[in-house]
Amino acid sequence: MTDQEISTQLQSIKKEALTALSHCDTLDLLENWKQAYLSRKSKFNDILKNLGKIGDVDTKKTIGELANTIKDELLKTFDEACTTLNAKFLNEQIQKEAIDVSLPGISYKPGHYHPLSQICQNIAQIFSSLGFEQVFGPEVETNYYNFDALNIDADHPARDEQDTFYTSIAPHVLLRSQTSTVQIRSMEKTRPPLKIISIGRVYRNEEINARKYPIFHQVEGLYVNSKVSFGQLKWTLQKFINAFFERDLKIRLRPDFFPFTEPSAEVDCECPFCDTKGCKTCGHKGWLEILGCGMVHPNVLKNVGENYQGYSGFAFGMGVERLAMIKYGIYDIRYFYNNDLRFIGQF
Ligand code: DAH
Repeated sequence: MTDQEISTQLQSIKKEALTALSHCDTLDLLENWKQAYLSRKSKFNDILKNLGKIGDVDTKKTIGELANTIKDELLKTFDEACTTLNAKFLNEQIQKEAIDVSLPGISYKPGHYHPLSQICQNIAQIFSSLGFEQVFGPEVETNYYNFDALNIDADHPARDEQDTFYTSIAPHVLLRSQTSTVQIRSMEKTRPPLKIISIGRVYRNEEINARKYPIFHQVEGLYVNSKVSFGQLKWTLQKFINAFFERDLKIRLRPDFFPFTEPSAEVDCECPFCDTKGCKTCGHKGWLEILGCGMVHPNVLKNVGENYQGYSGFAFGMGVERLAMIKYGIYDIRYFYNNDLRFIGQF
């Protein structure tokens, strides 16, 4: 073969190689291309191998130089093709994984305490700051704790089956209708002085309407010491009302009757919605009934045994839902029990 023929052959391999390279659009194809045109087994190398057989030194030199130039050129073009393809893939990858920070996020609504739980915690915390310890009692009770020990006669209307849920466990076992039961349980367990509150569920067999629900919550308070006065009771309740409603509201005490207190009183507070001018919430009275209270009846102290002889005390009881309804202007007790997130979510 003449040197002219060899150089023509080399040029045609170069042309073929560059055309093939322009079609390589994956890294695998590029690798194959390298094997075909630049490896030791390539056509290109076959020609170079045969160079030795050419006797003429000048021809060897010219062809050798041409071969090296073409090889360098192919290598350079190959490197460029690799760089371009890598950049293209990287770009595609970035596009695929790109995050659009302007898209609206997915919002999660974290859970929180039910409004009633929040209010119970708030009440407990206020009484704790007044020195009351929080205690708990069972919801399934006996006639003794719910009525007898609290000086409620056998013929008292509250014992009527319409009010109280009796169980099938035994004729004297019932769902407590008031948290006053915890007064007795606490005094039986602890010697005086005693200063407790108990917050919990009570049950009454009542028709459901905007004001009544068969389950509701009460707060019971009891303070027993050697000389407890009615003035201390009033002071305590006034402190509580101001803290709970987060403003100073006047209270007034009206004589009332409860079998377990003597004297007994009903406590009203100024209507926070109209400042005693009269509005729909307070039925145009200007005052709202809030709770019952009184001085612990001597029979109750007698029922819990010798330890309490010679002591005196005050007690009070109130409905949690009622307090919450007044504080937040809620007109229907059923909202607390419907599990409607539109209501619950507001607290
Ligand atoms: N237990 C009463 C009720 O359910 C509320 C009550 C009134 C509790 C006066 C008391 C009290 O401790 O002294 O209606």
